[in-house]
Amino acid sequence: MSKLDPIREKLKARREAWRKLHLRDLFAKDQQRFQNFSARLGDLVVDYSKNLIEITDLKLLHDLAKAAEVESWRDRLFAGEHINTTEDRAVLHVALRAKGGAFTDRGSDVLSGIRAVQERMRAFAEQVRDGTWRGATGKPIRRVINIGIGGSDLGPKMVTAALRPYRHSRLDMHFVSNVDLAHLDQALKGAEADETLFIISSKTFTTQETMANAMSAKAWFSERIPDPAAIAKHFVAVSTNTKGVSAFGIDTANMFEFWDWVGGRYSLWSAIGLPILISVGWENFRALLDGAADMDQHFRTAPIPENLPVILGLLGVWYIDFWDAQSHAVLPYAQDLQLLPSYLQQLDMESNGKSVARNGKPAEMPTAPVVWGEPGTNGQHAFHQLLHQGTPLIPADFIVVAKGQTGLGGKATDAHQGLLVANALAQTQALMLGREAAEVEAEMKAAGADAATLARVVPFRVFSGNRPSTTMLMPSLTPWHLGALIALYEHKIFVQGVIWGINSFDQWGVELGKKLATDILAGTGATRDASTAGLMALYDGMKNS
Ligand code: F6P
Repeated sequence: MSKLDPIREKLKARREAWRKLHLRDLFAKDQQRFQNFSARLGDLVVDYSKNLIEITDLKLLHDLAKAAEVESWRDRLFAGEHINTTEDRAVLHVALRAKGGAFTDRGSDVLSGIRAVQERMRAFAEQVRDGTWRGATGKPIRRVINIGIGGSDLGPKMVTAALRPYRHSRLDMHFVSNVDLAHLDQALKGAEADETLFIISSKTFTTQETMANAMSAKAWFSERIPDPAAIAKHFVAVSTNTKGVSAFGIDTANMFEFWDWVGGRYSLWSAIGLPILISVGWENFRALLDGAADMDQHFRTAPIPENLPVILGLLGVWYIDFWDAQSHAVLPYAQDLQLLPSYLQQLDMESNGKSVARNGKPAEMPTAPVVWGEPGTNGQHAFHQLLHQGTPLIPADFIVVAKGQTGLGGKATDAHQGLLVANALAQTQALMLGREAAEVEAEMKAAGADAATLARVVPFRVFSGNRPSTTMLMPSLTPWHLGALIALYEHKIFVQGVIWGINSFDQWGVELGKKLATDILAGTGATRDASTAGLMALYDGMKNS
């Protein structure tokens, strides 16, 4: 029996008690509910009052965090302990954004190495930005193509898109991840070889898709500029694998390194962030790191009841383990955050999509949700129907930005932003309040509906409400706010992993597919089962037809 079990039993009982509770009534009863159930870091505000919790639930969840030793696991992470036990690695992405302090791995300082690489990245990015980095024919770079996948793609791609107003106007940023050649083809459309910089980003420098795309990019480049010396002006690498980088033909002078204690999905703060740095410049990149560092400090020091990552982590555990929620919606009301849901899919699902606990036994409780989402207001005209009236319970995060950043300026920005924010708040209100039959009836009667129409239509226009959401509000989407927001999710996921007793930092679940794809390519895989053999035979026929 786990020491968490007695608390879990109480939480189960509270879940039962909630069958008779409605958020509508709780808000009516408690004028302070917003104040009581919101917390902040600076001007980043998290309102979690529209969640299915009373003080009793929250206290039990705090007890759960204490019993799971969240604080001591957090301290072990910051201390550089090898908490990624299956890979025997420290988990020190927090050191990459630290403003100072001491961070060590196996007793050695890691900060000096981080600062040295940051200096090299900064100098290189400045040259690309100010045009002193010249291509093979003496022209400045206009297009940057990052080739990487998973953590070597999603983070830099999402942040570069989110910080669109801060980007360098001469530089077009592209990201190629899919081994489908169509992806590289899209990025190369209209590209001039002598104005293009390729960043080959791969922690291992062995990932099949990235290597295939990198080879094809090199072939494309060499066809246009056959001089082997030109590669050094147009190809740089970001990796932990120096040998792999030189074997590929990139001068290691053009390699930006990072370390095995940086998990792929936690790597945008490292040299993997080079495309971000090139796009937005050092000041903005540092502000991104500072936002994350400030969230780290908050996570390290804030007491559990005020600790944002702990609160969000606990709410997720509450819904997944006690309300059978299987998915979690991320709804940024900011077009520039359009890639946040897919970035968080890897962060959350690759970290906590596990069913074996740290002790090698089956996990005691359900773990990570399916994370999904779309920017508002688009989702309202697509899947919000299910959020409001569907059968599953889907907790949703609404990320709301007070000031728009279109660059169009003036009244149009304010008017659009007003619409956007009104819609976000209306959605959270509708999910929480719902709409009772009496209200629908009164409105329809006032509009002249007869009894038959009422009987036919009212049930469909009723909203149960009592559907949970959390709102994160910030003044504008600055690099600092974005950094803080990403770190908030990183630590939330870590807290959940601790409570579920799993290692959030390995990813063995992606290995089998890699191996089987290699076997299928080698022609040995299809013999394992009739379906795969049948499909392979059809594929062979189709590709040769
Ligand atoms: O296969 C999953 C994964 O290992 C991710 O964890 C990682 O972010 C991605 O592949 C890319 O790996 P690499 O940076 O080594 O190419």
